[in-house]
Amino acid sequence: MKLAVLGASGHGKVVADTARAAGWSEITFFDDAWMGKRFVTHHPVVGDAAALFRSVAEYDGVIVAIGNNRVRLEKTRALIDAGARVVSVIHPAAVVSGSSTVGEGSVIMAGSVVQADTCLGAACIINTNASVDHDCRLADGVHVCPGVAISGDVVGGECAWFGVGASVRQGMRIGADAVIGAGAAVVKDVDAKTTVIGVPAKPAS
Ligand SMILES: CC(C)(COP(=O)(O)OP(=O)(O)OC[C@H]1O[C@@H](n2cnc3c(N)ncnc32)[C@H](O)[C@@H]1OP(=O)(O)O)[C@@H](O)C(=O)NCCC(=O)NCCS
Repeated sequence: MKLAVLGASGHGKVVADTARAAGWSEITFFDDAWMGKRFVTHHPVVGDAAALFRSVAEYDGVIVAIGNNRVRLEKTRALIDAGARVVSVIHPAAVVSGSSTVGEGSVIMAGSVVQADTCLGAACIINTNASVDHDCRLADGVHVCPGVAISGDVVGGECAWFGVGASVRQGMRIGADAVIGAGAAVVKDVDAKTTVIGVPAKPAS
């Protein structure tokens, strides 16, 4: 089973390990900086994004491993439009409820838990050891960083970013492109395009 990964970054490295653990036998990277970066660990980097778009039919699956939420989502949508088989990748050491759904191009790393009736959009990252509890709705392009704890019934808008170790009280509404700072404790709704930090979390000045 051949997987193409767009984005030869540190995050791409973890996506590759996750994909291997999930059963993908051959992993090939594409990155616009491929001339100066020929391997990600032992996986080859063979061309730029344009080369991937030309060759999508050769791969059983394609996923975008770019940390920037907007760029990852835009590339994922473009690949879907180009006919690529954009797949989600779930580490076997993650626990995902059978009543939850995971969108195309999303990755769920080792140690993470996604609880019942939660819905993850496309191109999301549920990073190492994060938990997303029951009945959450995370839109396309959301990144839940390592060690984040999201309680039940939370809504995350498109491309919201939950920084490492943050925690979010149940029922909170987090707007699109909001940034939750590392270690923040969210106890009030967060507006779109707003950065909050601290315990309790408040808008950063
Ligand atoms: C909130 C955040 C986006 C701010 O980034 P930034 O605008 O570059 O902020 P700076 O590093 O310039 O810091 C500005 C000030 O905010 C403080 N600050 C930054 N992040 C903070 C945080 N998470 N909690 C509390 N204070 C924070 C800094 O100490 C600094 O304070 P000072 O002016 O008194 O020195 C960033 O620090 C953050 O938390 N990002 C999440 C990173 C992450 O989770 N990465 C994981 C990738 S998998």
